[in-house]
Formats: sequence, structure tokens, C-alpha cells
Amino acid sequence: MSNASLSPLPSADRPDVTARLRDALLEASFTADGLLELLGAPAYAALSRSETVPALRATRGDTPLELLVRLFLLQQPASYARVADVLPVDACLESGWLDRVGDDEVVATVDVRPYGGPGGEDWFIVSDLGCAVGGAGGIGNHAEGVVLGVGGASTTLAGLTVRTPVSAALDLGTGSGIQALHAAAHATRVTATDVNPRALHITALTLALSGAPAADLREGSLYEPVADDETYDLIVSNPPFVISPGARLTYRDGGMGGDDLCRSLVQQTGERLNEGGFAHFLANWQHVEGEEWTDRLRSWVPRGCDAWIVQREVQDVTQYAELWLRDAGDHRGDPADYQARYDAWLDEFEARKVRAVGFGWITLRRTGAAEPSVVAEEWPHPIEQPLGETVRAHFDRVDYLRSHDDAALLEAHFALAGEVVQEQVGLPGAEDPEHVVLRQNRGMRRATRVDTVGAGFAGVCDGTMSAGRILDAIAQLVGEDPVALRDRTPAQIRLLVEQGFLEPA
Ligand SMILES: C[S@@+](CC[C@H](N)C(=O)[O-])C[C@H]1O[C@@H](n2cnc3c(N)ncnc32)[C@H](O)[C@@H]1O
Repeated sequence: MSNASLSPLPSADRPDVTARLRDALLEASFTADGLLELLGAPAYAALSRSETVPALRATRGDTPLELLVRLFLLQQPASYARVADVLPVDACLESGWLDRVGDDEVVATVDVRPYGGPGGEDWFIVSDLGCAVGGAGGIGNHAEGVVLGVGGASTTLAGLTVRTPVSAALDLGTGSGIQALHAAAHATRVTATDVNPRALHITALTLALSGAPAADLREGSLYEPVADDETYDLIVSNPPFVISPGARLTYRDGGMGGDDLCRSLVQQTGERLNEGGFAHFLANWQHVEGEEWTDRLRSWVPRGCDAWIVQREVQDVTQYAELWLRDAGDHRGDPADYQARYDAWLDEFEARKVRAVGFGWITLRRTGAAEPSVVAEEWPHPIEQPLGETVRAHFDRVDYLRSHDDAALLEAHFALAGEVVQEQVGLPGAEDPEHVVLRQNRGMRRATRVDTVGAGFAGVCDGTMSAGRILDAIAQLVGEDPVALRDRTPAQIRLLVEQGFLEPA
């Protein structure tokens, strides 16, 4: 792997210096809150679009915080004397966090981005220069092994991970170490792997600078670094999921054809999970001519696992190629090269009969169930992050439904979930709605169409009466045969429970 144009990294073997640096950063309020307050939301958001001008304008003063933002996020040199007022400058130079330029200036050797943990922790994410926010395209760094900081995909995965206390967690393709850092807050042991040794080094720095316990760092592809008999309670991976005509950037191009890397990762996970353990992946998948994407994804699910697959977005092949050409900054280079790369991308898709690419999440839970539940659905609408609790609750409901046949459902008691509202949809002025929609304002923020019986049923559910008794009362009210109603309604109840509108009381 060529890392020729990347600068040497700070030492990972100087915990004394890292601890002093952390103290100095905190002392200067170089934290997620401090940063947002200083820059303001627009300048901060501009950074994630690789635009630094607003942030440079917001840091023209001389406070320690402005100095640190220019140094560690905007790659600006600063005077040795001024930095010495804020940081243990000689120790940072000696251990490689800073480098000298000219006679009296210093620069940072890596980006350091303050990052707020879910429990209010002040964490820091280390990444290659210019990669803390906005990705590699912004700086045009095309070194193969460049290590990016936090992107939208990183925070999506962190948010949807189930955060129950576990003993062993694995972060596969750790990059900057963000997922390992989150896991360290609720796992006794964290293993982090990456094919890129530079990423493992950076992960060690991220954990140490964040004051988190060190992880077991292992180099290798996919599950290679994991022994055959090693299993985990939690596996997370934001893998190099980009479907590309050839491997160029390690952080995104897995180097396997089509969506094979994501497929292999998911398929090989079954035997790595402990009973009851969760695995969370972000993935891209091909929409191939003549094939349902849901069938493709279902075929990836390993035996012995329940799965919940959510397709969040679909892009046609041209949008997809453009997205990743821009991500690498190719649109800023030679137009002929850009065209050739674009062409190669479309050739690859044409050869594989790929019409579009799906983006989404795959969650597996290992279970001993004889009939695993595999839900593959499209949900492109806004959701509420963090989603981890919603994901855990989905699998609890799967267990509940699996163990309750229709007769048992009618005996059971249900309560309407919190913050569910009813919407009536129809033509303005019409006496009766054309249909009724139940909408959740939490979690997946789902909406589902129900008939009048379904809406009435949900409205009455407060846990006091059994489902069967409620249906009998509704039958009497609408003049329907109670036996027929008991016969046809469990399917609807099942759906409302599966989607979280009704909770077993
Ligand atoms: C999209 S980045 C994710 C980084 C980080 N986990 C996050 O969530 O932001 C993918 C990471 O996987 C690593 N990687 C690439 N190919 C891999 C492979 N075959 N096996 C393991 N890791 C790989 C890359 O070096 C990179 O660090």
C-alpha cells in the first residue's frame, strides 16, 4: 500500500505526552461544544463540505481555542511561542504531534477533531491532515492509505448500534477508530482491525487522546485477523463498501468485485457472533436487472441469524459514479481523466447488469430460533438518531411474535406506543377519510395505513383488555361477525406490533 505522500504519524508509545496534550486541549475548551460555539453552525457545516473559508474567518482572533482550531482542523501554521502558551510544545514536537516549519512556526502532523460522546464525554478523533471533516476530496489527497475522520456514515453506524453492556466487541475496518471508541464505553474488551496499518496507528492515537482504554489492534482483511474460535457479542463495521471499477482508496474501495466485499462480510459474520449478539453494518448493494434487491440481500444472511435490512437510498449508476468521483476530488483534475474514470465506472456496471445501487444498514442478531426472521425493507424517510434502542426493540418484538401464534395474540394485551398519532387522508371537504394513517414520532418515525378496525383497535389499546375482547367490542359496534373479525385481524395486529405501533403490555 502506498502511503508515500502521507506525513509520519505521532508516536503511539508516549502516553505521558498524549495525556498532557489531552489536558491542554480540554483546558482551552477544544471540545465539540466549544467548537460549535466558536464557529457557529454554518461555518461548521461548511467544513463538512470541504469549505474552510468560513471557519478561517471565524478563527481570526487570538484565543487558545482559535489557535487550536487553526492548527488541528484547518492545517494552519502557528508561531512556536504562541503554541507554547497553550500546549506542551516541545513534548508535542518530540513525539510527533507537531512539526517545525521555518524558523519559528509549527504545524500539526494530523487532524484532531473534538467529538462529543453519547454520555457527554469529551473525545477526540485523529485522522490524516485535511480529513477531519469533509473527506479526502476536499484536500485532493489521493494517497491510497489516507485515513479519514468522522463522516456521515460513521455517525450513522455509531447511532444505530445497540449499546447494551457487552464483554467483547469487534470493530472491523476501524479507520480513525470512531466505532472502537464508542464500543469502549460499553464493552469490556474491544478488538479493532484494519487492512491499513496506518489506520490502526491512528486508532491507537484516537483512543489514547480520548482517555479511552487501549484496544486490541490487528492488521488484516475482513475476518483474517480473528482466530477461528474467537466470537464477539458485538460486531460493527463501516466497511469500504463502494462498488468501483478498481481499488484506489483503501478507506472506501474494498478491492473485491461488485458488492462482494459487503456480501462476504455479512456471510462470514454468523459464526463470529455469540448467541444473542448483534452485528451492525453499513453497506451498498447492486440492483441487478431481473433480480429483486430484497432477494439478493436475503441470500446474504448467514444461518442462525435474524436480520433487519433497511434500504435508505437508491441511486442510479450515473449518480453513484459521480458521487464517488467527487468524493476523491476527481472532478477538480484533468477533464479527460475524469471522463475516462466515469466511463470505466459505467462499463463495470454495464458488464454486471447493474441498474442502480442501494445504500443501507444491515443488522444481524444471532439466535437459536428454528425459523429466523429476515426483514428487508425500504425506508428512505428521516429517522431519529440515536436509533440503537429502536433496533434492540425490533429484535425483542421479533422474539415476541415468533413465540405467539394468532390465538396467543388474541389472548394478549397491548398498549399503544408513545407519541403515535392518527392522520386522516382524503379529499378536502369529504365526510369520510379515504384512509387512515398511524404515525410514530420516535425512532424510525414510521407511518402505516390501517383500516377503521385497525385504527379503532390501536386507539383502545391501553393494556387493560385482551386483543380478542377489544375485537369483540368493535364487532358489536360496527355490526360485524365477531368470529370473522377475530379471524382476519391478527395479521394486522402482527404488523402493528412488528413495526412498533403496539407494545405487548
Ligand atoms: C469507510 S472506512 C470506515 C472507518 C471507520 N470505521 C468509520 O466508521 O468511520 C473503511 C475502513 O476499512 C478499512 N478496510 C479496507 N479494506 C478492508 C478489508 N478488506 N478488511 C478490513 N478493513 C478494510 C479501510 O482501511 C478503512 O479504514
